[in-house]
Amino acid sequence: MTQMIYPTTDPAFTEQLVIERGEGVYVYDDTGKQYLEGLSGLWCTSLGYGNEELVETAAAQMRKLTYSHLFGGKTHPAAMQLADELAAMVPMADARVFLGSSGSDANDTLVKLLRYYFSAIGQPGRYKIIARDRAYHGVTVAAASLTGLPANHAHFGLPAEALGVLRTGSAHFYRDGLPGESEEAFSRRRADELEALIQAQGADSIAAFIAEPVSGAGGVIVPPAGYYNEIRAVLDRHGILFWDDEVICGFGRLGSDFGATALDLQPSMMALAKGLSSAYMPISAALIDGQMYEPVAQLGAEMGVFGHGYTYSGHPVACAVASKVLEIYRRDDIFAHAAAMGRYLQDSLQPLCEHPLVGEVRGMGMIAALELVACKETRRPFAGNSVGAFCQRACQDAGLIVRALGGNSIALCPPLIITRPQVDELVDKLAAGLDQTLAHVKRENLLSD
Ligand SMILES: Cc1ncc(COP(=O)(O)O)c(C=O)c1O
Repeated sequence: MTQMIYPTTDPAFTEQLVIERGEGVYVYDDTGKQYLEGLSGLWCTSLGYGNEELVETAAAQMRKLTYSHLFGGKTHPAAMQLADELAAMVPMADARVFLGSSGSDANDTLVKLLRYYFSAIGQPGRYKIIARDRAYHGVTVAAASLTGLPANHAHFGLPAEALGVLRTGSAHFYRDGLPGESEEAFSRRRADELEALIQAQGADSIAAFIAEPVSGAGGVIVPPAGYYNEIRAVLDRHGILFWDDEVICGFGRLGSDFGATALDLQPSMMALAKGLSSAYMPISAALIDGQMYEPVAQLGAEMGVFGHGYTYSGHPVACAVASKVLEIYRRDDIFAHAAAMGRYLQDSLQPLCEHPLVGEVRGMGMIAALELVACKETRRPFAGNSVGAFCQRACQDAGLIVRALGGNSIALCPPLIITRPQVDELVDKLAAGLDQTLAHVKRENLLSD
């Protein structure tokens, strides 16, 4: 045991697996055992492991300029290049880019930019943010307040109320749909609930609605038919901004550049991280459109400073690596490859619907989940998280890394560079893990009669 406080870990079960090295879509533990990395680390290693071009880029930038900051008029070419590339890529008019180091800090930055913006246009009372159940937006104090998962809230005493965080239902049709309800009717119900919440709070107090295009850590929740059209109509009616958390969906994960493109969202704000550097360096970006930026810049100029910034905002090594990652995405047509492999992955997973433990197979592009249930007919979930945890372990024994999420969903999010035979390998190993889990569940008598 080391002295580490491990993140997002049961302190009674630390140091279960020591990963020592990685290559392509595989990682290896300290005994030399190979695993297909079916979750891309934490949904982030899109270009896989050990990419020499990226290693060289980092080394070259370290030699040239190890560090420089962006405060008080200083800048450097690596950060300027990346900001302009991102602004040109995103589906927002005249986008402006604030650089950070993590998805959480990008969302915290956007909380502050949102408040700064409404203050600048003379509406400081418009600060509340609507976030969804089962959302994941990070774990810093403001981002955790936006997150809608119990474990990230309990005992932390988060100032969600002071921050004006309002909660609305998730897009989880399989779990939250009513018996006999169609996807369209469910989407309409969610929009009606949103409308009611806005009416109750007063639209002029609400600044933005935050959503992951497809939710990741909440269980890989793919919005049902009509969902975003219905939600969008309500937000537009009340002038509420759409805040698009693309930390997982951005950069090819859904088979196109951004989730916003795949699902036809029209964001005013975006959070980017993970795939931005394929996790070769920690880096994030918080973006706002030009219409939001103008008053922010004006107020900042009046104040003499826009008083927000991190030591590592625009770290040159992270920026150089991210720019190289974007170049590789373009040059190697990675998003088109992800779209093709995504279709193959989703088709290959579908037969697992027949497995006695699998209630639903859901996904889009290169992200998917299998929801394990005690009874397929009634969708009765297993109590606690132990069945999902067993399945994660069984897959690991079979040489596949997956992640069990709350509610016993098994999440998949392989590197975008995966090939067809490797998708076959992933599905075979997953099926082996499921069979082991079924044997366990029968032994323990956990299934419905
Ligand atoms: C959608 C989303 N937003 C924000 C975050 C937080 O990112 P980070 O862990 O880099 O702070 C995550 C992390 O998984 C995420 O999935």
